[in-house]
Amino acid sequence: MNVHESEKLAGILEGTGYSVAADMNDADIIVINTCTIRQNAENRVVGNLGYIKKLKEKNKSLILGIFGCMPQADGAAQKLIKRAPFINIIFGTHNLYKFSDYLKRALEGEKVIEIELESKVVEGLEVKRTSGINAWVNIAYGCDNYCSYCIVPFVRGREKSREPQVVLKEVEDLLKQGYKEITLLGQNVNSYNGIDSNGEKKDFADLLENIALLPYKFRVRFMTSHPKDFSVKVIDAIARHKNLPPYFHLPAQSGSDRILKLMNRKYTAKHYLGLIDIIKSKIPDAGFSSDIIVGFPTETEEDFDKTLELVKKSRYHHLFSFIYSPRAGTKAAEMEGQIDKKTVDARFSKLTELQTKIGLEIAEKQVGKTVEILCDTFDKDKNTYRGKTENGKIVSFTSANNLVGEFVTLKVTKSKNSNLIGEMLSPH
Ligand code: 5AD
Ligand code: SF4
Repeated sequence: MNVHESEKLAGILEGTGYSVAADMNDADIIVINTCTIRQNAENRVVGNLGYIKKLKEKNKSLILGIFGCMPQADGAAQKLIKRAPFINIIFGTHNLYKFSDYLKRALEGEKVIEIELESKVVEGLEVKRTSGINAWVNIAYGCDNYCSYCIVPFVRGREKSREPQVVLKEVEDLLKQGYKEITLLGQNVNSYNGIDSNGEKKDFADLLENIALLPYKFRVRFMTSHPKDFSVKVIDAIARHKNLPPYFHLPAQSGSDRILKLMNRKYTAKHYLGLIDIIKSKIPDAGFSSDIIVGFPTETEEDFDKTLELVKKSRYHHLFSFIYSPRAGTKAAEMEGQIDKKTVDARFSKLTELQTKIGLEIAEKQVGKTVEILCDTFDKDKNTYRGKTENGKIVSFTSANNLVGEFVTLKVTKSKNSNLIGEMLSPH
């Protein structure tokens, strides 16, 4: 979501006549796109401010903008400007479309601070896409779930779906331009609730199905899915269409029902594992990934063991583990029983160790298989090409021809760490 919003900011700047600076030190405008999901993301922003202050001392006309979720949290914009009065523009994600106006005002010497809290669907923005292969496409903005640890509903506002016809048209235009992978974005894509201009309702499965039917060779990915809303209709759509790859990012967050309840996740570990079983029964080759939070308030060793158990049963291709970070204004930040750092660090290491082992085993099992990848990278240092299989494994291979942007069939010959090495079968 953030990467795509940076593409929109860059699109607006290009539309105003600017181009990308080769180096931050040469820039006339610096915009930091902030994140507030965990404290360490905020610390990084604050860390950068000191350096930019020095650049501004050297170049008096340099404009600094702070954009995104961080200043949208309660009182955060005022705190930022107090700490760094040299900031020229502070604006939030819901004000993105007004960036060129803010810039004009800042260039005239005004200090602009504008934060709107309600999400809005604004169509027709310029986008400067950074990859020629994958294109991000928003399908919904905001989130209504209020997981008790999460700041997103407070900063991103209520969930709003884009019109299905508008999404479909954007995807088709991108495919016509030659993009090979479309990643649909929403905080919870499974609760997508689009209404066409003729009043017809479309859920996420309908949208996926309509996109899959577009007559091009491409793949559709999506993130993120909430297990409470994941429907069998979506699984069936994925099973039916080759261009809907069987890769599921299904954040579990915890394996303990007690913790899941405190997190307000509205599902149990049994429901979660049941969902994985249904997917595996319909799509045996499916790949999974997940987010897990370690050290949620009151998490006991027993709760954590249940998380390890869930990870063992789910067998993820990739796992994104996070140390719980209290966010002011959320319910969890007020809870008793915050866990000490030493305990959390030990649990985090244990989880990482388990996932590394599972990742290695999954990778080894792929050896000998024939896979289709979408080649997206050439690694100059190693002189190898890289791409992802349909179920999300990274494979590298060599080729005499430039294959970036092509679908390539490979035979997996080796596994290295949790990644794979392959040999090309086609195109030759
Ligand atoms: N602390 C740690 N991790 C968090 N996430 C969201 N909020 C927090 C928090 N306060 C994680 C969740 C989510 C991912 C995007 O970030 O696992 O799925
Ligand atoms: Fe945050 Fe995701 Fe929960 Fe929404 S569904 S509150 S974005 S963790």
